[in-house]
Amino acid sequence: MAKLGVTLAGLELRNPILSASGTFGHGLEMQHFAPPGLLGGLVSKTVTLAPRPGNPNPRICETEAGLLNSIGLENRGIDYYLREIAPTLRAAECVIVTNIGGERVEDFAELAARLDAESAVDALEVNLSCPNVQGGKLPFATDPKTAEAVLRGVRAATRKPLFAKLSPNVTDIGEIARAVEAGGADAVTAVNTLLGMAVDWRSGKPGINTVMGGYSGVAVKPVALRCAWQCVKAVSIPVIGCGGVGKAEDVLEFLAVGCRAVQVGTSCFSDPSHIARLPAEIDALLEAAGFHELAARIGILQAGGGAPSCKPGVAVKA
Ligand code: FUM
Repeated sequence: MAKLGVTLAGLELRNPILSASGTFGHGLEMQHFAPPGLLGGLVSKTVTLAPRPGNPNPRICETEAGLLNSIGLENRGIDYYLREIAPTLRAAECVIVTNIGGERVEDFAELAARLDAESAVDALEVNLSCPNVQGGKLPFATDPKTAEAVLRGVRAATRKPLFAKLSPNVTDIGEIARAVEAGGADAVTAVNTLLGMAVDWRSGKPGINTVMGGYSGVAVKPVALRCAWQCVKAVSIPVIGCGGVGKAEDVLEFLAVGCRAVQVGTSCFSDPSHIARLPAEIDALLEAAGFHELAARIGILQAGGGAPSCKPGVAVKA
């Protein structure tokens, strides 16, 4: 067995695999598909101060190569989360991360303060980057000063480790990563969904009610990988890769560009049990290649070199 453990923002993870927010329930709903004891961590769906009904239907649309969503941060609010969900997580056998979202800068700090005393919660992920609220303007994810202000407020409200979830829909993600690091983030999650849309050319109807939504799935992996690498270069805090991860090879690619851990999202919709098999599949890949420690594979990217094939994992015939 290769050693798969990683340290992330002071947390010990048995392996680098976490669920991505919004794809794996709020708590332990998926435990019968994927026992938490096989994962590095679980990240909740975004929790907000007040309950939110979410956006009008249709709010999910499958595309040729991925998924568009515009859920609109549907959730029952922080009171319900603390009363009904958090207690069920206290015995969870993996790291528990609560993802928080707000409409104003102050909302994030208030949420962090409410969660600070909850022992079930090991870390907070600050969702700066939901593209399906505030008209897709991403006010917290596109302006470095605002992103930093959100993190400063949250930092002052809790000592729990903070992940800042960034958007790929920016010109310079490194600038935003530096801003959240300055604000007190302990890690960066790179990235949330890409803004996208779909339309039926016969009826003229959009795929989702809000027209634009968050695009995710295997097709976004090269964009997510690029964003994660730009964050790795920009900050000294760890980066958690997210976007298009479905296979063990994908996880190892995100680690190769310098990520310390990886979140698995859209692929959980088609097979919610696969995330729990990923650690064994990663182990098999590492052992077959003669590597015995996953941590030693982090950041092995040789920038400037040319790969023998543009399709990783495919050998080039001589
Ligand atoms: O619409 C949603 O709830 C999506 C959230 C996100 O991408 O952060």
